[in-house]
Amino acid sequence: MVLVAPSILSADFSVLGEEIKRVEEAGADLLHLDVMDGSFVQNISFGLPVIESVCGKTKVPLDIHLMISEPEKLIERFLAFRPKFLSFHVEATGKHDELIELIKYHKVKAGIAVNALTPVKEVLPFLESAGMVLVMSVQAGFGGQKFIEDSIHKINELAELKKERGLDFEIEVDGGINEFNARKVAVAGATILVSGSTIFKSKNLAGTINQLRNPKFKGGIGTARF
Ligand code: DX5
Ligand code: ZN
Repeated sequence: MVLVAPSILSADFSVLGEEIKRVEEAGADLLHLDVMDGSFVQNISFGLPVIESVCGKTKVPLDIHLMISEPEKLIERFLAFRPKFLSFHVEATGKHDELIELIKYHKVKAGIAVNALTPVKEVLPFLESAGMVLVMSVQAGFGGQKFIEDSIHKINELAELKKERGLDFEIEVDGGINEFNARKVAVAGATILVSGSTIFKSKNLAGTINQLRNPKFKGGIGTARF
């Protein structure tokens, strides 16, 4: 069984508190928060004040995904929210080791994200130290894009290395996840599925979250451990 992390990027921001309550009641395992700066990605989403408000609105653990250049400049402000996971992009900084250590020092799970066009080899030096690898299955920046099939190879490769080396990092997959591709992503080794548009467009939130968590056919090998 995988964990499901709804991304509020696809929520109705005019009633954000209610949207968060809806996914909480529908059984969300994590709340995925996409922070975009208009520099690392060509879009701006939301930042610190919104996350501060969100913090008080939910008991669901936060999963913050930073799509910002030089995350080292602001990382401590995000750590102050005490998320379960805090991820930054491997492409966004040269200070990977320092950031991972700092995040872990704050007892938060450190995630290293790899964009869809970046080879997976870029994150291999951090598999021992990071608590999660976030595999982007669309190019970061926008919700509602189509799942890039090549991501399956990246997930497979990471899952194999994890097994070979006896590591226990989470493999989170983010972008274009729906009821139809969730199973193959889980079978490839994903342990956490992020989903924005599929979940927030659904008329049956709990049903959709359940379907993503337990993809219809047997065979999922991904299991989150935290
Ligand atoms: C994209 C974000 C994703 C996005 C997922 O840059 O990181 O979290 O919101 O949305 P969907 O599920 O619609 O692709
Ligand atoms: Zn994301």
